[in-house]
Amino acid sequence: MKILITGSNGMLGSDLVKVLENDHELIATTSKVLDITDEDKTVDFIKENNPDIVINCAAYTNVDGCEENIDLAFKVNGEGSKNLAIGCSEVGCPLVHISTDYVFNGENTRPWVEDDEVGPISVYGKSKLEGEIAIQEILDKFFIIRTAWLYGVNGNNFPKTMLDLAKHHPELTVVTDEVGCPTYTLDLAKAIAELIQTDYYGIYHITNSDSCSWFDFANYIFEVADVTVEVTPVSASEFARPAPRPSYSVLENKKWVENGFEPLRSYKEAIKDYINIIR
Ligand SMILES: NC(=O)c1ccc[n+]([C@@H]2O[C@H](COP(=O)([O-])OP(=O)(O)OC[C@H]3O[C@@H](n4cnc5c(N)ncnc54)[C@H](OP(=O)(O)O)[C@@H]3O)[C@@H](O)[C@H]2O)c1
Repeated sequence: MKILITGSNGMLGSDLVKVLENDHELIATTSKVLDITDEDKTVDFIKENNPDIVINCAAYTNVDGCEENIDLAFKVNGEGSKNLAIGCSEVGCPLVHISTDYVFNGENTRPWVEDDEVGPISVYGKSKLEGEIAIQEILDKFFIIRTAWLYGVNGNNFPKTMLDLAKHHPELTVVTDEVGCPTYTLDLAKAIAELIQTDYYGIYHITNSDSCSWFDFANYIFEVADVTVEVTPVSASEFARPAPRPSYSVLENKKWVENGFEPLRSYKEAIKDYINIIR
């Protein structure tokens, strides 16, 4: 297939390139080559390249930054996604769009399924939801993939931050009342590679299996990495950050499993591989 990838230098985008490049013809773009906020250029670029499918990994992902830069958040995450959908509709190709657990409000007592009511509590979540809505309005053929708590080789993320902090701090405090599904971008990229071979369009939750709090995740990272550090649990309210985060963010990969795909491995297995690679 001829695949156009946006945000190909990002954490997920760079793993997608690795996973797809041997079997497909890739047009891997950065914001310099294709700024998705420019509607005319985006639509023209898609028409000129005429891909079989577009995968949108481009986003303004700084969750706290979005609270300050509201216009930019909606421009990239909302309008940018819409522009890609318009381009895809012009050439008749499907769009794969990466979205987030932050479209939910976090107030649930069971894992979120794809058709649960959305209700984002942060600017980032609201802007990502705007992108989801625009795509569904414009296209019939789309895969919207909500994922969560990503980490990968090519980006800043929680495991890297924890391991860096532990080099200079014998004690760390980590939030214990936010629960989610840590997900390795390489595993997600492999799942996307499988999904695009099908025409099972729609909204998907795709994460590594099993869930934990940030506190549990930090402790597990240190156990795997064989690092000794004292980790103290704190509540999110004691750990002030500009953007509110959903407290319960576990995504059930319901549609993925119903459509016959294998559940992704546990985050506990995935993080072991990741730590071996980065150390
Ligand atoms: N990180 C997480 O924990 C997480 C969790 C759930 C969902 N997601 C979603 O997963 C996707 C991938 O996230 P990620 O963490 O891999 O992101 P990332 O590392 O921040 O990469 C995002 C990329 O978007 C590109 N970009 C920004 N503005 C752009 C524009 N106007 N036009 C074109 N490209 C633009 C940047 O490209 P340049 O470098 O070329 O400027 C950047 O490389 C995003 O949709 C994100 O919302 C992430």
